Order: sequence, then C-alpha cells, then structure tokens
Amino acid sequence: MYNEIDFDKIDIALCPPIEEPARQYYFMAKCRKWVSAFTQKNGRPPKACVTTFGCQMNARDSEKLMGILEVIGYVPTDSEQADFVIYNTCTVRDNANQRVYGRLGELNRYKKQNPQMRIALCGCMMQEPTVIEKLKKSYSFIDLIFGTHNIYKFAELLWASFETEGMLIDIWGETDKIVEDLPVERKYPFKSGINIMFGCNNFCSYCIVPYVRGRERSRQPREILREIERLVADGVVEVMLLGQNVNSYGKNLKEPVTFAQLLREVEKIEGLRRIRFMTSHPKDLSEELIEVMKQSKKICRHLHLPLQSGSTRILQQMNRRYTKEQYLELAERIRREIPDIAITTDIIVGFPGETPEDLEETLDVVRRVKYDNAFTFIYSKRTGTPAAAMENQVPPEQVKEGFDRLLKLVQETAREQVAKYQGQVMEALIEEVNESDASLVTGRLSNNTIVHLPGDASLIGKIVPVSLDECHGFYYIGHCILDETGAE
Ligand code: SAH
Ligand code: SF4
Ligand code: F3S
Repeated sequence: MYNEIDFDKIDIALCPPIEEPARQYYFMAKCRKWVSAFTQKNGRPPKACVTTFGCQMNARDSEKLMGILEVIGYVPTDSEQADFVIYNTCTVRDNANQRVYGRLGELNRYKKQNPQMRIALCGCMMQEPTVIEKLKKSYSFIDLIFGTHNIYKFAELLWASFETEGMLIDIWGETDKIVEDLPVERKYPFKSGINIMFGCNNFCSYCIVPYVRGRERSRQPREILREIERLVADGVVEVMLLGQNVNSYGKNLKEPVTFAQLLREVEKIEGLRRIRFMTSHPKDLSEELIEVMKQSKKICRHLHLPLQSGSTRILQQMNRRYTKEQYLELAERIRREIPDIAITTDIIVGFPGETPEDLEETLDVVRRVKYDNAFTFIYSKRTGTPAAAMENQVPPEQVKEGFDRLLKLVQETAREQVAKYQGQVMEALIEEVNESDASLVTGRLSNNTIVHLPGDASLIGKIVPVSLDECHGFYYIGHCILDETGAE
C-alpha cells in the first residue's frame, strides 16, 4: 500500500522497476527530489491545482492526480494561479471542449506572470487527434499532455516533463491494464467514488465515450471490496460505485460476477452506511438487481436510469437497445417493487432525424415515469461517432423549442415528486456548511434530495434524522430531530 511506503528510501539511482505500481512509486520519489529543490530555491513548496471537467469518473481520476501530487510534495490549492495546473478534460459535448479552450487563455496569462508555472492537460478530450493538433499549433505554452489510458503513469510523465523543454505529449490508443494502489486524495472525508469498471462497450451512436475511454474493463471484486474497507476504516460512510454501465459489471472477468452479487458483498462491509451507484443502462438492469436493492438496508433509494429518448424509432437509431415500452415497463416495475425510490434520468433533444412527434413520445415518458430529476441535453455532434455522419440534423430553432418544452415538464414532475415527502422524517448525510447561509448545513437524503437545516460544521459526515418541513421546489428546509443520545 502506498501509504506504508517511505518514498525517501526508494533508491532513485537504480533503474526504474518494470512492474506497476512500483515503477510509479519510483518516479514519485524522483519527483520529490525535484520538488524539494524547488522548495529550497523559492523558500516555499510549490502549489498545485487540479481542475475537473465532466463526470464523476473524471472527478475520481482528479482525486488520484491530486493524491500523486501530494505524495510528490505539492501543496493543493483551488486557485489556478499555482505552480502546477492540470485540467482533467471532458469531451462528451462540444461546450465542454469550448470551456477548456476559453480558460487556457487565462492560464497562459498566469504563466507569463509566473514563468516557473507548469500546465498540463489530460482526460477524454486529449484522446481526440484533432484536439492535439489544435493544441500543438496554438497552445504551445502547455508543458504536458496525456490521455485517459496512461493516467496511471502520471508520476512518470510528470518527471519526464520536468526533464523536457517544451510540450511533452503521450497519448495511447488503448489499454487493458488496471493499476491498483496508487495514491488518492479525497475531496470529502466522509464519502467517496470508487471505480468498479472503466471504459464502455455500448457504442450509443451519439456518444464519444467508448472512443475516448476504450473498451469495458471490470476491476476484480476483491480489489473493490478491499478499497472500500480501507475507505471505511478512514471515515467514509457513503460510497458511489462508478461505471459507464454498472449493470454490465463483471461480465468479462475470468470468473464472472454480476453487479448485484458485488452489491451484496459491499453491503456486508461493516461501518459502511450508504451505497450509491452510477450509471445504470436500462438494457442490462436485472431482476436480481431490483431484488438486491429492495432488500438492502444500505443501497440508497435512488436510481439514475438514462432514457435519452422516448421514441422507439430514435432509440433504435441511438443504438440504445430498448424500446419505449420496455423502458416504461422497467420503470413501473422498479416503482412498484421499491415505492420510495427516486428515479432520475438523462435526455437528449435534437438527435438527427428527431421530429416533433418523437419529442411527444419523450414527453409522454416523462409524464408517466414522473422523474424525480432529469438532466436534459441538446444533442452535440461528436466527430467520429455514427450519428455525426447522419444527414438529417435537426434545425436549431426546432431543438430549442423542444428543449424548452421538455425542461418545463421535467421541472414540473420533479417538483411534484420532491414535494411528496413534506412533513416526514428522513435520514440525511450532512455534507457541508451551507454556502450562502453559515447558520445552515446541507445534507442529502437517501433519495438524493437536498435538505438545508440549522446546524454547524460538527455535523458534517454524520447521518441524522431530519424533519422535512418546507419544500422549496427541488430542496427542503428542515430541522434535525435529536434522540436521547444526541445526533445519530
Ligand atoms: N454511460 C452513461 C452516460 C455517460 S454520458 C449512460 O449510458 O447513461 C452522460 C450523458 O451525456 C448521457 O446520458 C447523454 O444523455 C449525454 N450525452 C452523451 N453524448 C451526448 C451528445 N453527443 N450530445 C448530447 N448529450 C450527450
Ligand atoms: Fe455513452 Fe452509451 Fe456508453 Fe453511456 S452507455 S457512455 S451513453 S456509449
Ligand atoms: Fe466527459 Fe469523459 Fe466523463 S467525455 S462525461 S469526462 S467519461
């Protein structure tokens, strides 16, 4: 384990080991020497900032980047006026890319003020050759660029970039490797994401993720359980199991395991209070999973079940491999079996060939399922995906109109759903002091609804019973109900 390693005892005069993660520990030791030279020269240690774009997977990857930076001796900061700034990028929709380009100009200005500053880019956007071409041509101030498949080599790449003048680029097309036991610096002490699998094999026709994250690979159950046990020993009470399609977890392991079986094992971990997971593809959601959720005391009452479209014709074009009816039947079954569950979703408006009638089908599903929350996206053309080559792209005015109608409807159903629990007492995990009113803390119910209540920082990380007094649209104002033993 990395936290048992004395990095100063690693002999960096020797050749680097071939095996991972020992090789990365060696390069961390080498980088530590570089950092201590920086500290001596400047009279202070260097500061590092990791900025994350995109999904929970990227957020987790960023925690790993920060873990390595801290082992090396960098001091974390949220300010991008730092000595090392890395952007962990997303490319799922074009606006994610534009945000990165927009902010790089700012970083260049910081670098002009601080010539010691180093800038790195990694993540999904870097897996696209056109992006790399553009960066090479117009963003020559960047020091290091790597992709999603070699992120475990961050320490080695950082060392190489210290030794290199100008831009160092290392992008791999694919990997089948999963490297365990690298350092992680968690953002929250009491909750954590955990990768259970990497990549995606589904090739939804609009989506770039399979191209930039590679083929689906599941971690061994024992590695996942070991990681969660360690997190729990370190104060974590809630875990979020992460994968692009958790329902296909374990199918490709030498000894296949189902996601439901994994959940049963996670449930047994003592001290762990809550289990969440993300994302469930409707086509692979099993009876066994519904059964396990129903019986579980720890799995949260929340299921994120992306619909994408309510039109069977469009779903087929999207390569989602379910029909409107199959989706509706699944959602109904889940609501029937687990009545207090919240169902949330993702919906895309403006997929090529989508007609106003197709949109009506989507609105119909929203009305019937009554989502507790929905993320709505305008279709974004991603080069290299099958949908990008489809001819009948929808005119922007039609997309905008459909998007606004959908948004209005999902907000209505979400309001209704959230308001259902008014007056009840439910457990909330307190996550932070309220940003706009320091006399309040913010907690999350099992069904993912947010509640604000009077309290202070001492409640953070605790699960407390809360009376849900006033519903304000998407959140509650409540108060903590203490029993004789105090909170908890
Ligand atoms: N693996 C997850 C989704 C990951 S991407 C799943 O299958 O549900 C998150 C969401 O981004 C998707 O659910 C989809 O709604 C949206 N998305 C993906 N590609 C998109 C595109 N090209 N344009 C607009 N939205 C997109
Ligand atoms: Fe993209 Fe589909 Fe894979 Fe989700 S399941 S990441 S939407 S290809
Ligand atoms: Fe974006 Fe990559 Fe996640 S493209 S949504 S950061 S997997």
